Amino acid sequence: MSKTPKARIIGTGSYLPERILTNQDLESMVNTSDEWIVTRTGMKERRIAREDEYTSDMAFQASLRALEASGITPGELDLIICATLTSDYIFPSTACLLQAKLKAERAAAMDVQAACTGYIYCLSQAKAYIDSGMYKNILIVASEKLSSIVDYKDRNTCILFGDGASACVVSDRGSGLVVRDVSLGADGEGAEFIILPAGGSRRPASLETVSEGLHYLKMEGKEVFKHGVRRMEAASKICLERVGLTEDQISWLIPHQANIRIIEAIAKRFNVPMEKVFMTIHKYGNTSASSIGIALDELLKGTDLKEGDNLLLFGFGAGLTWGASVLTCVHEEINE
Ligand code: ACO
Repeated sequence: MSKTPKARIIGTGSYLPERILTNQDLESMVNTSDEWIVTRTGMKERRIAREDEYTSDMAFQASLRALEASGITPGELDLIICATLTSDYIFPSTACLLQAKLKAERAAAMDVQAACTGYIYCLSQAKAYIDSGMYKNILIVASEKLSSIVDYKDRNTCILFGDGASACVVSDRGSGLVVRDVSLGADGEGAEFIILPAGGSRRPASLETVSEGLHYLKMEGKEVFKHGVRRMEAASKICLERVGLTEDQISWLIPHQANIRIIEAIAKRFNVPMEKVFMTIHKYGNTSASSIGIALDELLKGTDLKEGDNLLLFGFGAGLTWGASVLTCVHEEINE
């Protein structure tokens, strides 16, 4: 890990589709209740993209906002990294579709598939490229149309997920949030706990896979819950130790918004009061890779961060994957 991190987030953006799917709507679709959903997950509403609104469209909107906030033009981008598990196509990548929409002609482009941890995996890549001096301006975008892979007859999963996108520009100069450290992990032994069984090369689409509903996301919620708490706590501890911060020096927790009970458990383990935990789960549900970036964008839009404020981001998802990152606010422009 570089001792002198240059990489900093200099602008953020997000995009949420207009249509709202409430717990009451879900009550008329599956055997569930507003009370069950709120107490078990903390969710009240989530957003659903239009049928003709795709992952790359939401990525585009969030990216335009992040670019505007950062003062960087598409032509200045060296690289676009897109985190998604609901890409428009298996290939080409959503990052390439976005590169064309933005007319970011100089930029290389690739997708990262780390499910709900995608935003943090992308941060780690952007940090490595920028701290090493290889690139100057990188666009990270996370976008998910989870409604396209959710089975709205399965009450175990359909209450949890929503659509949306988030983006940020990571640069080697300017004021913003310095990416102090990123800690990542994975455990493929847990691959089956959250999975989209068909549509890949193992089980290509067929009449049989479609009739069996194998193109919908399947999840063993309890297993994911247990691993999630343990792994995110461990990754967060590693990050804090590496940058030499103690728990009381955390200004804000920005968790992946998967379940309020997971978030509360981790906040408790770090002795961080819930007022310092930024939440969007009640209004957007779990937007997978996008969720941390949406929360970060809304925090920055509504809060004047002070010089030296420390943010702890953490996430967990299919793979299994997990990660954490420590960001520190710097108002001083560094233009070496
Ligand atoms: N409404 C009413 N009852 C329900 C619902 C529902 N929507 N869903 C499940 N139940 C029932 C179950 O059938 C079960 O009934 P039973 O006891 O008669 O069998 C009971 O409620 C308890 O079910 P559990 O699955 O044990 O409920 P749990 O407390 O574990 O909550 C939940 C389920 C919310 C899914 C939780 O396990 C969770 O949040 N897990 C983590 C999810 C996560 O973090 N995902 C992140 C990654 S996602 C990605 O990478 C794409």
